[in-house]
Amino acid sequence: MSRERACSVAELEPDTAKRVVLGGVPIAVVKDSAGAIHAIGDTCTHGDISLSEGFVEDDTLECWAHGSQFSLLSGKPLSLPAYEPVPVFVVEIDGDDVYIDPDVKKDIA
Ligand code: FES
Repeated sequence: MSRERACSVAELEPDTAKRVVLGGVPIAVVKDSAGAIHAIGDTCTHGDISLSEGFVEDDTLECWAHGSQFSLLSGKPLSLPAYEPVPVFVVEIDGDDVYIDPDVKKDIA
């Protein structure tokens, strides 16, 4: 699969997340307080909860259900109860639009 348009840049408010589904893959697109745009898997690895309904703080997205915070940079949970990471996707900005290829995940060591 190739990249798909996720949303426009203008749709993203700072410190908020937007859920998109690309190629059947749920993705949380997040603009942090510094204006950087991130994309991570939208499903919490602790339960079937949409992370985009949670809370953005700095470069983390917190699951509202039990409070695990996921790094927007690595996808790793920074607090329990989740212990498995979510995928992190490569984001491309083209003009006013945000593009993501749901098959291309960042290689996080
Ligand atoms: S469902 Fe996300 S931390 Fe429990």
